[in-house]
Amino acid sequence: DGGARPVEMAIAPVPWGAGVIFGAFLRDISERRRSDEVRARLLEKVLTAQEEERCRIARDLHDGIGQSLTTLLVGLSAMGQAPDLDAARGWAEELGRVASGAMDDVRRISRGLRPSVLDDLGLVAALERCARDFERAHRVAVEFRAGGAGSCRLPRAVETTLYRIVQEAMTNVGKHARAGAVRVEVAWAAACVVATVEDDGVGFDREAVSGAGGSGSGLGLSGMEERAGLLGGSIAIESRPGGGTVVRARIPFEDRGHGEGDCDSARGAGPEDAGRGPA
Ligand SMILES: Nc1ncnc2c1ncn2[C@@H]1O[C@H](COP(=O)(O)OP(=O)(O)O)[C@@H](O)[C@H]1O
Ligand SMILES: [Mg+2]
Repeated sequence: DGGARPVEMAIAPVPWGAGVIFGAFLRDISERRRSDEVRARLLEKVLTAQEEERCRIARDLHDGIGQSLTTLLVGLSAMGQAPDLDAARGWAEELGRVASGAMDDVRRISRGLRPSVLDDLGLVAALERCARDFERAHRVAVEFRAGGAGSCRLPRAVETTLYRIVQEAMTNVGKHARAGAVRVEVAWAAACVVATVEDDGVGFDREAVSGAGGSGSGLGLSGMEERAGLLGGSIAIESRPGGGTVVRARIPFEDRGHGEGDCDSARGAGPEDAGRGPA
């Protein structure tokens, strides 16, 4: 059609009668080029998101823990000059509260940084904890369900990606939805895992949010899409003003390298549950 196309060329000797000729093979690689470009764009966005996360952590450290440590220092100095033991005890009590607040901060920050609960307990337990934390923090009932072959371990990247996506979806529910009830569900079959976060809150107009060119909205929704996209998965969002929101993440995975038939045999009491019997 007169347009230019990227091609890959291979030249190989081909026996021809008593001699040899050289054959050239051309392959159209525009499709591969395009997916390389998409990948590069996604990676760049992920790096930007990482940079923003660092800024957030720096802020948390400075404003939260930094403040607590300053308060502790000032308090300790006052305690050293307390006129009597009772006054000193009063200070000790007060400073104990500050220290335990700082410990909560550290726990919160480190949990956000590295979901070690994933390594320890796996995706289902980690998500359930996420749901319970949300319930406590926002005083909203969260229904949690895990279905399908829920006892086999997924590839690490799939677990982390789903965990982060659900975390962001829940953060959005807490920040924007004003929901009365939330449902979190994770279910997987042999080659695909689906996580759903549903709320009955105020909902939003997806077009208006993405149409804003990102200026008004955060990186949350696009970050979810990028995370899923990097693993060949996708995010579907159903929402309309007044009608609540459903965020569904679908990630494909290969269960090769996870023990033969792991996912299928996990449908009953999986290998990891063998000693404990069905849950
Ligand atoms: N569960 C939800 N309920 C209502 N509105 C939502 C929900 N999730 C996202 N939104 C809307 O979509 C916008 C974009 O979300 P996001 O990309 O995560 O950015 P941020 O949370 O930083 O504002 C939000 O500002 C909000 O208006
Ligand atoms: Mg958000």
